[in-house]
Amino acid sequence: APQLVQNHLLSLKDYSSSEILDLLSLAADLKKPENKYLPLLEGKVLGMIFEKSSTRTRVSFEAGMLQLGGHAMHLSTRDIQMGRGETIADTAKVLSGYLDGIMIRTYHQDTVKELAEHSSVPVINGLTDDFHPCQVLADLLTIQEHFGTAAGKKMAYIGDGNNMANSLMIGAAKVGMDISIAAPAKYAPKPEMVALAQEIAQGTGAKVHVTIDPVEAVKDCDVIYTDVWASMGQEQEALERMEHFKGFQVNEALAAHANENYIFMHCLPAHREEEVTTGILEGPHSVVFQEAENRLHAQKALLVALMAN
Ligand code: CP
Ligand code: NVA
Repeated sequence: APQLVQNHLLSLKDYSSSEILDLLSLAADLKKPENKYLPLLEGKVLGMIFEKSSTRTRVSFEAGMLQLGGHAMHLSTRDIQMGRGETIADTAKVLSGYLDGIMIRTYHQDTVKELAEHSSVPVINGLTDDFHPCQVLADLLTIQEHFGTAAGKKMAYIGDGNNMANSLMIGAAKVGMDISIAAPAKYAPKPEMVALAQEIAQGTGAKVHVTIDPVEAVKDCDVIYTDVWASMGQEQEALERMEHFKGFQVNEALAAHANENYIFMHCLPAHREEEVTTGILEGPHSVVFQEAENRLHAQKALLVALMAN
C-alpha cells in the first residue's frame, strides 16, 4: 500500500500527485477479480457518520470493508448523540476508542476537520459542501481505465461550482489533466478554490480554466462531467437554480464540440433532462455506472492505505 503522509483524507489537496497515482494503481490491483477478497483489514471496523443521504458512498464503503475482512457501521446523525448536540470532539474521542477509521458525510468542511483533529484514527471525508475526494479518486481511476492516463487529457465540467467542481479541479491539477469549468457567473467555483487548483496545476503543467460558456469548455475535451444543479441541502433553491442553469445542460448539441471519443461522467444521482439528457446519460459515451462501481475499488485502496498497518 502507498505510504501516505496524511493520516486522514479531508481533501485531495493534502495528497501529493504520486500518492494519488499510487492509490489508483492499488485500486486497479484490488479491482482484479482474484483480489476481490483479501483480508488486508481483518477485524478492523469503520464507522460511517451520515448527516446527508447516500447510496453509493454508504454501500461501497460497507461492501469494501467486508471484502477486506473488516466491518462497517452506518451511523446516521438521526440516531447518534451527535445529532442531539454531543460535541464533535467528544464524538471523535469516544469513537476512536472503538473504531479503526471514521468516514463522515456532512455539511461543513470544518466539521470533518474538527473530527480529524480530535480523532486518533483516520478520518475520511465522504462529502461535504466543499469537497468530495472519494468520488474524484473513483473518477480518476475511470479516466485512467479509458485513456491509459489522465495526464494531458482535458475535462470539461459543466454546471454548478460545487463540491464536485472543487474536488475535480484539485484532482485534475494533481494528475496533470486540464480542466475547464463552465458555470453561470453566480454559481462559479469560489475564487479561492480556483486559485488553489491553479497553484497545484503549476506543479504539473495542467490548465485550470473557468468560463460562462459551455461550448468553450467542451471544445476538444476528452471528458464531459456534470452534476446536479441543486446539491443536498439546497433543495429549497431548486427552482431558482433551474432558471440560472438553463443553457448548461449536457445534451447532444453541446457534446458535439467534444473530441470524438469523449466519455461522459456524472457522480450520480442524476436528474434526467435537467443537467443531462437521457440520451447522453444512457448513451454510448457514458461511463457513469463503471464510474459508480469504481467508488468501491478506489475506496478499498484508500482504506488499505489508511488503516492497514
Ligand atoms: N456519488 C455519490 O457520492 O453518491 P451517494 O450520494 O449515493 O453516496
Ligand atoms: N453535489 C452533489 C453530489 C452528490 C454526490 C451533492 O452535494 O448533493
